[in-house]
Amino acid sequence: MTIDRLYQDSTLAQFYDFDNEWKANDDYYVEFAKNAHTILDLGCGTGMLANQIALTYPDKVIFGIDIADAMLNIAKSKPAGSRITWIQSDAKQLVLRQKFDLIILSGHVFQVFLTYQDRVAVLKCIHEHLEEEGLCIFDSRNPLAKEWLTWAEEDSKREFFHPTFGPVLAWNDFQAHDDTVTYGTYYRILNDKQEYQAFSTITFASFADIQQALAEANLIATDVLGSWQGDTYHDQAEEMIFIVKKNQMKR
Ligand SMILES: C[S@@+](CC[C@H](N)C(=O)[O-])C[C@H]1O[C@@H](n2cnc3c(N)ncnc32)[C@H](O)[C@@H]1O
Repeated sequence: MTIDRLYQDSTLAQFYDFDNEWKANDDYYVEFAKNAHTILDLGCGTGMLANQIALTYPDKVIFGIDIADAMLNIAKSKPAGSRITWIQSDAKQLVLRQKFDLIILSGHVFQVFLTYQDRVAVLKCIHEHLEEEGLCIFDSRNPLAKEWLTWAEEDSKREFFHPTFGPVLAWNDFQAHDDTVTYGTYYRILNDKQEYQAFSTITFASFADIQQALAEANLIATDVLGSWQGDTYHDQAEEMIFIVKKNQMKR
């Protein structure tokens, strides 16, 4: 499979942490990790979350998996980077001897799995790496809320400061087709007008699609939240936050 340049290109990857600040969802994941001893962060990106979990709870065993080397290289350089086991792998093909109390897919990683078969494959892999009483938590944007409509150039313009490049203007654009959205991410370094761009494709799988994929992977949702404030999922919710465990009824 081809790896998204947004994550695999070492210049573009450098912008990630500055364009994606720490948010309520990250706090939620850190709190959620409190009771787990072994934690797998699948699609960990630049390791922002895994690093914070390691700093908050120094006794935990943490693994971070990502397909993109450029993201992992940034992850390794974080303050707790040396205390985390980083592995470059496609999440759908991960094979570890270790099982985990908690598996996390944060920052809408679940949406990079474009087909139903891909979603089942990653969920089966999660099943394989989950302890019998373990939990997995992942978020996917609710297609009914159509968040991509806010990704037009004018609506999405933002500026951030990068320690090497100085002020950077960022924006997106998008094309939607059925449940798939291809979006452009653009960075313009304001000091020298140099521009970088990447195009990414993600899927907005429906609530029913994800529930079906979970069942096929022998997993079951114990809870589905609609926001990081913890309210239950409903049709107008922006998020679908699935908290899942192994389905003990089916073997
Ligand atoms: C939107 S970023 C989220 C990163 C991180 N979880 C966060 O919350 O900041 C998506 C990440 O998924 C990774 N990714 C994409 N496809 C993957 C795959 N098949 N297996 C593992 N990681 C993948 C990308 O390289 C990227 O780092």
